[in-house]
Amino acid sequence: MRIDILTVLPELLISPFDYSIVKRAIDKRLVEIHVHNIRDFSSNKHKKVDDYSFGGGAGMVLTIQPIDAAISFLRSQRDYDEIIYTAPDGELFNQQTANKMSCFENIIILCGHYKGIDQRIRDTLITKEISIGDYVLTGGELAAAVIVDSIVRLIPGSISDETSALSDSFQDNLLAPPVYTRPADYKGLRVPKILLSGNTNEIDKWRFEKSEERTNLLRPDLI
Ligand code: ADE
Repeated sequence: MRIDILTVLPELLISPFDYSIVKRAIDKRLVEIHVHNIRDFSSNKHKKVDDYSFGGGAGMVLTIQPIDAAISFLRSQRDYDEIIYTAPDGELFNQQTANKMSCFENIIILCGHYKGIDQRIRDTLITKEISIGDYVLTGGELAAAVIVDSIVRLIPGSISDETSALSDSFQDNLLAPPVYTRPADYKGLRVPKILLSGNTNEIDKWRFEKSEERTNLLRPDLI
């Protein structure tokens, strides 16, 4: 899989992909992540990428030219399954969307900008708009990092224990059960006995019950 990210703040997207599962997936060549600075595609002599909003109002708006040039360049190299724009008014992101996107070959993610981008970009170049939650971020970069992280860990081979991603919260519309590790007794706080029993059937049953219990309690809307 190849992910191209377009942003005016590429520096914000260095560290999220440089650790843990995402880094390992890149090292194993399961995914390529390319971060592009929109400014590099500006035809303006000062590499300007934003301008005042027509009709007035505070804040600068990203212009169509550099974004059109960047997307045209990428599309001349390969086909893309989806050209995504991150914005608080997009479709709410969830595990089901992450699952679908992890099967794609190539995607572009255009990071939103705090005062928005020229609407004509959204109308003509973008195929999907995604919000990561009902709150407003300063820009779409952190949203892009969240989306990429959630997709990459689903690519087969990213997680060493293949079944691990499938047992995540939300995969079956249930929250994950609680987990414990050594010591079995910490200052009198004991690990549930069943987990020490070695009886895998009983343990699976217990975990499923705990998942249901937690989901009913914390996220009844998922059931
Ligand atoms: N940009 C600003 N806020 C956002 C959000 N909640 N989701 C995606 N992109 C955003």
